[in-house]
Amino acid sequence: MKGKILVTGGTGYIGSHTVVELQNSGYEVVIVDNLSNSRADVVDNIEQITGVRPAFEQVDCLDYAALEEVFRKHEGICAIIHFAASKAVGESVQKPLLYYRNNLVSLINLLELMPNYAVKGIVFSSSCTVYGQPDVLPVTEDAPIKKAESPYGNTKQINEEIIQDTVKSGSPIRAILLRYFNPIGAHPSGLIGELPNGVPMNLIPFLTQTAIGIREKLSVFGDDYHTPDGSCIRDYINVVDLAKAHVHAIARMLEDKQDEKVEVFNIGTGRGLSVLELIHAFESATGVKLNYQITGRRAGDIEQVWANPEKANKVLGWKAETSIEDTLRSAWNWQLKLRERGIQ
Ligand code: UD1
Repeated sequence: MKGKILVTGGTGYIGSHTVVELQNSGYEVVIVDNLSNSRADVVDNIEQITGVRPAFEQVDCLDYAALEEVFRKHEGICAIIHFAASKAVGESVQKPLLYYRNNLVSLINLLELMPNYAVKGIVFSSSCTVYGQPDVLPVTEDAPIKKAESPYGNTKQINEEIIQDTVKSGSPIRAILLRYFNPIGAHPSGLIGELPNGVPMNLIPFLTQTAIGIREKLSVFGDDYHTPDGSCIRDYINVVDLAKAHVHAIARMLEDKQDEKVEVFNIGTGRGLSVLELIHAFESATGVKLNYQITGRRAGDIEQVWANPEKANKVLGWKAETSIEDTLRSAWNWQLKLRERGIQ
């Protein structure tokens, strides 16, 4: 065993894929999740994929005492990957205090507990949302942080600052901040994937639900942007590739290879795709026709953003590998599997 890793939000979308990759690489995993946006049977599915059942504690990271009990019970946790957070941009505008409480207090609790239990470092789930609309594309890690468009985005910025300030104050911990672009797709087994609550807000779950007939039509939010085909451009990153970036980050941290106590990496492919290009790629990769229509712009959308992932490629030794076609097929396979299981 390489070490014991605490994964908060480990039954969630990115968390579950990361637990699989950690276990496949020989790490022992303890999952903490309050199941507010995931299901307990994800643990069974992780076991089915990897042959190893991760420890699971149904605990809310806001509950300091319960969280401390996890560190006591699972002695020897050497690092944390912190996914647990609320992530719906629109909801965060309606319920800012919920977002500030959930996303800030959870991190503060972890940072307070870490030195007491000799936890070496934390890998934090950040987002390209911190760049807003970048002036230069592809965007690099040293691009300026722009004022957040939503309370959700603001929690990512503030959390990055909380980590920076904590380390600066002399806390004996290390941190790696991973700024994800747009994670999509599912594990090739079809056993884990994204399980949106209610009507999906993100493009791919809405798209696959439309393709399978749960939704009538996909709306393309705007075709009058300053992009080649007028629709918004994003950097869509395969979720298994993204999960592997965390394994690289953990290894770098535990092997004392960090150049700075807090390091930041863009986790993207380096390739921007428009909404319309993505729809057409889905149709040709799966052979399924999509019913879609162009509608008005969605408030708060960034026009275009994609990563310069060179730093992650060179320093972290990680690179996105899966083609967009395979990624879209995995998302479709997951939607079909959900229907088989009678979930959606
Ligand atoms: C947003 C956040 C990101 C967050 C992610 C997960 C911003 C700038 N980005 O990403 O930080 O991690 O949500 O919640 O706040 N689209 C359609 N039709 C749809 C849905 C989406 O055309 O039905 C378009 C959007 O306009 C956008 C693209 O698809 O151009 C991707 O949208 P989405 O999947 O919601 O992700 P982001 O908004 O990029």
